[in-house]
Amino acid sequence: MAHVEDQGGTRRDFLYVATGAAGAVTAGAAVWPLINQMNPSADVQALASIQVDVSSVEPGSQLTVKFLGKPVFIRRRTEAEIEEAREVPMSDLKDGLSRNPNLAADSDAEDQNRALDETGEWLVMVGVCTHLGCVPLGDAGDFDGWFCPCHGSHYDTAGRIRKGPAPENLHIPLARFVSDTVIELG
Ligand code: FES
Repeated sequence: MAHVEDQGGTRRDFLYVATGAAGAVTAGAAVWPLINQMNPSADVQALASIQVDVSSVEPGSQLTVKFLGKPVFIRRRTEAEIEEAREVPMSDLKDGLSRNPNLAADSDAEDQNRALDETGEWLVMVGVCTHLGCVPLGDAGDFDGWFCPCHGSHYDTAGRIRKGPAPENLHIPLARFVSDTVIELG
């Protein structure tokens, strides 16, 4: 009797694993074409914006959230980081554009056009290197900002490319404060 039960249990386990694997493959194959090629459904549109509570983020640290399949860095900058970013002459920048869709497309890359708020305390950026798409490391690199070890791109404390092969500043997503402590992305 015990022998039969064991067999049954083994068989159920096997079927469960097999079903799960088939489901995962189907989902992987189907989800991307749905998002990429069809008009977004109401469900997908609802996911096109998220709200992030930043009340626990201390100055000098950052939160990474996943939004639309990409990491988004939400950094609360220190006074020193803001000052460092604001002292950089525009002529030192490799990419002179803000890369900030919250502003006009031709707005320049001065720090005020990169930060989310007027004081410059909050910097929100898509955490994807503009060279070949790696995720840069924070608090790193020759300019005290972010460093992409894949091919050595250095970004400053405003996420602007300063050295290495990346052609553009880290991109900024659509973002806004909806209360003192909540940032909405999208
Ligand atoms: S992907 Fe970042 S330097 Fe190449």
